[in-house]
Amino acid sequence: MTLGRRQMLVGSTMAVGALGAAAACGSGDTPSAAPQAPSESAENTELAKTADVPVGSALVVDDVVLTRAQPGQIRGFSTACPHAGCAVSKVTGAELICPCHGSSFGLDGAVITGPARGPLTPVDVVVRGDSVVRG
Ligand code: FES
Repeated sequence: MTLGRRQMLVGSTMAVGALGAAAACGSGDTPSAAPQAPSESAENTELAKTADVPVGSALVVDDVVLTRAQPGQIRGFSTACPHAGCAVSKVTGAELICPCHGSSFGLDGAVITGPARGPLTPVDVVVRGDSVVRG
């Protein structure tokens, strides 16, 4: 049996990975839980105070837009526009606007005006006390 170059690279990578795993187990280092820490901390990162998210409107925080159609209804969406990926960065009343080509979205993330054809991608957020955090 002969192996192609791609197969060899995959095989080599697997062998190196196995050696690395074996070395980590024998070194007494902390198990591989460390790589999960960033996502856990990201999940608990405060995005905003609930009072900063206006009722009937929205607030853009980094790569998340927080909407609040009603007092107890805060939702999160990615700012990545489904049309071509620009950041939805402008809020006018109850409309979220992408500055690149003018798509607009409602507080539920649905398209109001194209060229975007699909909704904004939901982001899990949770209200904890007076804060909105990534869920
Ligand atoms: Fe948002 Fe084109 S990237 S409208």
